[in-house]
Amino acid sequence: MSAYPRPVAADATTPRPLNSQPKVRIDNVTMSFGAFTAVRDVNLTVADGEFLAIVGPTGCGKSTILNAIAGLLKPTKGSITLAGKPVNGVSHDVGYLFQQDALLPWKTVEQNVELGLQFRGVAPDERARQSRAWLEKVGLKGFEKRYPHQLSGGQKKRVQLAQALIVNPEVILMDEPFSALDIHTRHLMQSELLRLWQENRKSVVLITHDLEEAISLGDRVVVLAAGPASTVVDSFSVDLPRPRNVAEIMMDPQFMDLYRKIWSSLKTEVEKSYAQHP
Ligand SMILES: Nc1ncnc2c1ncn2[C@@H]1O[C@H](COP(=O)(O)OP(=O)(O)O)[C@@H](O)[C@H]1O
Ligand SMILES: [Mg+2]
Repeated sequence: MSAYPRPVAADATTPRPLNSQPKVRIDNVTMSFGAFTAVRDVNLTVADGEFLAIVGPTGCGKSTILNAIAGLLKPTKGSITLAGKPVNGVSHDVGYLFQQDALLPWKTVEQNVELGLQFRGVAPDERARQSRAWLEKVGLKGFEKRYPHQLSGGQKKRVQLAQALIVNPEVILMDEPFSALDIHTRHLMQSELLRLWQENRKSVVLITHDLEEAISLGDRVVVLAAGPASTVVDSFSVDLPRPRNVAEIMMDPQFMDLYRKIWSSLKTEVEKSYAQHP
């Protein structure tokens, strides 16, 4: 992780070459559960180093798409590639951050963080070394021996972040990771995420129903249609400068402009969805 040059801010604003191969490529993907088609004909690419945010009404298929990228669900039709390789079963090249608390309650913080390395056969000493380094990076030095129940909601999220990043994944997938946190903790965690992301700019796919979060974090916001048979309806690039202050960026006129534009697209879908399930 330390092989990338600093300073952080300069690296974060350096444009990537446009012709580099996409990290994630979703080609004409349809996902059905029996007779029910959740998403249909989804086409989406995520560039190397891009932070992509996906928004859409509840139940439109956001998690389904993310699970397909992770290789947890197999598309009914179409294909997905990750760093040029077809996704075929659970991928070791992704870091996954769930909404729900996914820590193992019987393991300590450092044992939880080490899990991904353990699955990959990394030796105990090296696991412990990296785990300690990551815990320090996410601000949890001194918490190594605690158990998950001894942590606050925000601290658990930090452990999950360390857990996702320690495996040095090609892509980080996040499914509404901060939605259960109070607003101040959420802003704090969003800042932490951006700070860590800017150190080496992995590709990120963030699912959220929170448009504010999508714009303040993303390079691009994609809007999904109301389900069933949801698909991509719009894509907006977010040209707000980085590094960003997530607690204040919504007061920026450029942010507000963008919010209005994207919301008018998203609102249509949210209303459709609500009409179906009042
Ligand atoms: N395993 C499953 N079996 C049947 N239907 C499912 C399954 N998983 C998701 N769905 C349905 O697919 C749709 C999309 O779900 P999901 O991807 O979880 O939505 P979102 O994450 O956008 O809220 C929903 O209608 C949901 O009920
Ligand atoms: Mg979901």
